[in-house]
Amino acid sequence: MPKLAPSILSADFGRLGEEIAAVEAEADLLHLDVMDGHFVPAISFGADVVRALRRRTRLFLDVHLMVQHPDRHVAPFVEAGADGLTVHVEACPHLHRTLQQIRDAGARAGVALNPSTPFGHAEQVLGDCDLVLLMSVNPGFGGQSFIPFVEGKIAAARRRLQALGATCELEVDGGVKLENCRAVAAAGASILVIGSAVFHNPDPAATLREIRRRLRGEP
Ligand code: DX5
Ligand code: ZN
Repeated sequence: MPKLAPSILSADFGRLGEEIAAVEAEADLLHLDVMDGHFVPAISFGADVVRALRRRTRLFLDVHLMVQHPDRHVAPFVEAGADGLTVHVEACPHLHRTLQQIRDAGARAGVALNPSTPFGHAEQVLGDCDLVLLMSVNPGFGGQSFIPFVEGKIAAARRRLQALGATCELEVDGGVKLENCRAVAAAGASILVIGSAVFHNPDPAATLREIRRRLRGEP
């Protein structure tokens, strides 16, 4: 059964504490999307928001850095309480060093790949990271549709991880909803990020329960 990581990007930012309390019992991780207005068009929030959320939840804080120069932000986010930091291959000319920096700071290190970036771009560093995140939309916004070709990419990545004996998590982020969660899990995802499908629903916890029910194969 994959782990579920609600993304607060689609939550009501005026009531973040309540929104998180609503999913605390049903979520395995909390996915926090940090955007800088350069790597992606929008700006979301920074380390001070992570610090405030750290005081509100015991959930693993899974911070997805959609920023240029992520190495400049490792220390502030870990100090603020991030448990894991995921950086984009496309933003890291010295990926191996950045991953080491994250681990040295005491956090789990993740590597994110945009939909059109081949899985091979992460292969050399599988031993230096705890998680590979496959984007299933182009990063920058919540509420987009799952890009169909990514399903095959997830399956190929899962086969490759198995062949290499790699134990890192395989997280899938973008456009995951009630309708496609089973297919994404069957392809090999071990963590599902779910934003709008959870927080645009009046009962976020019930949505997470429904997703688990579908993942168990119940009709
Ligand atoms: C997109 C973000 C995602 C986003 C997912 O750039 O990385 O985490 O919040 O939202 P949904 O599930 O609505 O696609
Ligand atoms: Zn994300």
